Amino acid sequence: MAKRTIQDVPVAGRRVLMRVDFNVPLDAAGAITDDRRIRLALPSIRSVLHRGGRLILVSHLGRPGGAGFESPLSLRPVAARLDELLEGLTVNFVEGDCTGTAAADAVMALADGDVLLLDNLRFDSGEKSGDATFAATLAAYGDVYCNDAFGTAHRLDASMVAVPAAMSGRPRVVGLLMEKELRYLAGTLAAPRHPFVMILGGAKVSDKLGAIRNLRDAVDSILIGGAMAYTFLRSTGVSVGSSLVETSMLDTAGQILREPGHAAPLLPDDHRCGRRNMAGTPVETFESIPDGWMGLDIGPGTAQRYAKVIEGARTVVWNGPVGVFETPPFDAGTRCIAEAMVRATEQGAVSIVAGGDTAAAVEVFGLAGRFSHVSTGGGASLRMLEGRCFESVDLLDDARQPPEG
Ligand code: 3PG
Repeated sequence: MAKRTIQDVPVAGRRVLMRVDFNVPLDAAGAITDDRRIRLALPSIRSVLHRGGRLILVSHLGRPGGAGFESPLSLRPVAARLDELLEGLTVNFVEGDCTGTAAADAVMALADGDVLLLDNLRFDSGEKSGDATFAATLAAYGDVYCNDAFGTAHRLDASMVAVPAAMSGRPRVVGLLMEKELRYLAGTLAAPRHPFVMILGGAKVSDKLGAIRNLRDAVDSILIGGAMAYTFLRSTGVSVGSSLVETSMLDTAGQILREPGHAAPLLPDDHRCGRRNMAGTPVETFESIPDGWMGLDIGPGTAQRYAKVIEGARTVVWNGPVGVFETPPFDAGTRCIAEAMVRATEQGAVSIVAGGDTAAAVEVFGLAGRFSHVSTGGGASLRMLEGRCFESVDLLDDARQPPEG
């Protein structure tokens, strides 16, 4: 069901409480190492500010204990980065308690076109527990609720569910990033153009089981890479040497390969291997992996075979790197998949990169702008591939609701 967006709501002179996902990676010195989630929230932020709204941004960062302020998980560096990105506008920031007097005063002091970022919601245990008093305090800040936090959409945190529930009767809408994520991850996958190809990688079969079961009737091909491939291969009796195998999933993996009437997953038939999972290890390519060697990437033959399938696709969705892309030369397979998807996109295919590590890989390769969509969600995008719905989205206004005058 399409949702009403922030663009559909008049905001001039109104306070807009916007839940964003500014859960960005920080290095040991507290500097942001990837600001993508902040940059991609800008269209919704600008939409409110340019129309004279009074914007209150709320987010979590990391997983604090919920017992109050923890300096390393403060959103202060995010406020500074947002301030730079919004050139010319000052981002007001209140450190610490997001429901205390200082926060409430800052909310009341906002003028039209002003923006305020409150500190980490999870400093208060009420955020994770969905506490009604905590939610009511946040709900009182806004005349309009906007959820642009796709990365957190699978959570039941107070700001995602209890706050909009407490704002019933006021407009409750999706932001423009959330709208785009849903359009691709729900809309495109529900009505894909064929051939429809799914690429799955990463460590564990158990993590991707839901996606395989949900989409295997819809897809024409499933290409498997990453360590999860070794569980599938071992289940067929192929030698995988010292590669990672999820032994508890061997029976399930075997069943998936044998079940008739579905697209059977394609498996790698050569492997780039090392003796250890690190730089500087000797590197060899094997079809059957000897003892003492670990598969750390799909081999060049497999990469070419998969690239051909991808280039023939009209819809491609990818979750999970197919090798240890952080450690060359084990990035080659993942790079080859990314490049094939870019070529497919250039030929008119719809391409979706879904998953935190996969998004990080295409960013490292400098290709992030060349897909139809690169999701900001990790767990949330995988849940969408599993066909799940989110309470945080369901309770927001439907697009059919008449626009306010
Ligand atoms: C994420 O990065 O996946 C989201 O921000 C959700 O964070 P969480 O897993 O700590 O709830």
